[in-house]
Amino acid sequence: MKALTYHGPHRVRVETVPDPILEQPDDIILRVTATAICGSDLHLYRGKIPGTDHGDIFGHEFMGEVVEAGSEVTNVKIGDRVVVPFVIACGDCFFCHLHQYAACENTNSGRGAILNKKNITPPAALFGYSKLYGGVPGGQAEYVRVPKANVGPFKVPLALPDEKVLFLSDILPTAWQAVQNAGLDKGSSVAIFGAGPVGLLSAACARLVGAEEIFMIDHNAYRLEFARQRYGVTPINFDEIDDPAGWIIDHTQGHRGVDAVIDAVGFEAKGSLTETVMSNLKLEGSSGKALRQCIAAVRRGGVVSVPGVYAGFIHGFLFGDAFDKGLTFKMGQTHVQAYLPRLLSLIEQGLLTPEEIVTHHMPLEEAARGYEIFEKRKEDCRKVILVPGMASTTPAT
Ligand SMILES: NC(=O)c1ccc[n+]([C@@H]2O[C@H](COP(=O)([O-])OP(=O)(O)OC[C@H]3O[C@@H](n4cnc5c(N)ncnc54)[C@H](O)[C@@H]3O)[C@@H](O)[C@H]2O)c1
Ligand SMILES: [Zn+2]
Ligand SMILES: [Zn+2]
Repeated sequence: MKALTYHGPHRVRVETVPDPILEQPDDIILRVTATAICGSDLHLYRGKIPGTDHGDIFGHEFMGEVVEAGSEVTNVKIGDRVVVPFVIACGDCFFCHLHQYAACENTNSGRGAILNKKNITPPAALFGYSKLYGGVPGGQAEYVRVPKANVGPFKVPLALPDEKVLFLSDILPTAWQAVQNAGLDKGSSVAIFGAGPVGLLSAACARLVGAEEIFMIDHNAYRLEFARQRYGVTPINFDEIDDPAGWIIDHTQGHRGVDAVIDAVGFEAKGSLTETVMSNLKLEGSSGKALRQCIAAVRRGGVVSVPGVYAGFIHGFLFGDAFDKGLTFKMGQTHVQAYLPRLLSLIEQGLLTPEEIVTHHMPLEEAARGYEIFEKRKEDCRKVILVPGMASTTPAT
């Protein structure tokens, strides 16, 4: 089959690899009908995640048709159309019983990314996300093996096209969890850092729960403009406004700041040259730029919700400021399985239309170009969907 494989930083290509086979009695094989490129894939693409080997197949946002099922699979059958959560969970451990699927104790043969690990179990395995997260081949491919098929794969109605439901695999539940963690409600104010797919869908979810004022911070003017038009955000371009948090404080009642902030940027945040250099030299784990802005922009007693991925340590983490303001922090990988029935229902009612953020549909065969466009923010790219077997979108030369 054809699959997108990694060959060093910024070098990915679609090549022919062996077809996946059933390995466990509760596995299925899926024929992929649509798969997306995520901001999390960009961390892999840039070579920032240890344990990523040449030949690894990326992709953790995918859906398709069940074409083979192991003898113990009861939840789905051959021919079913399913979306697959990026988190692989057993459904039956301490954390799965708490619906904290991303902490599942039984699926990851790797160690996770934690530094001071002691003896705790690693977090759940993730599709296509390095040996740290189980070394499970991803779904930017024609076929993919899906372990724990009685727990993850989620049937979706035929009436809904792929692009409407594909994001149930990751970014829609991620945005939803970010908004739930932020404690947003009718009349809330929020600042969302990052206008990528996660930030944009966070704005959509924030509107749905009744947030009144949404500030959005980025430096991709075209993403900010989309968010302004579609979600009514107040855009702040950090190329023009050097200190977005200061600006937010000046534009909120009583100079208090917003009720909550959402960091949809993560550890590769732009803006601190020193931290970028130090992270590249591995003297710093993450860029703390977005997180410092978050801590500064939120009001006393407010919430900092962090869907953006962080790794290792940050020297410039102002824990004292967070203490002084009495802040709550909530973060982590998304417990995707916990939110799917609710989110599908919101899509069916037309209350969430996540497909609106898509700008590019491309054949899987052109995935390398998809990565380049998404990473370099070319062609006003917001989100790329790859479709195996789709006709080429580039004119023949
Ligand atoms: N928690 C989870 O389970 C989960 C799931 C999906 C994605 N993520 C993470 O969420 C983050 C966002 O993903 P995405 O797909 O939207 O990625 P993306 O790379 O498309 O978007 C990130 C945006 O942040 C902007 N940005 C960079 N530095 C900034 C700064 N200092 N201030 C404000 N904006 C800044 C960029 O310009 C970009 O538009 C990534 O870290 C990704 O790994 C986490
Ligand atoms: Zn993702
Ligand atoms: Zn479990």
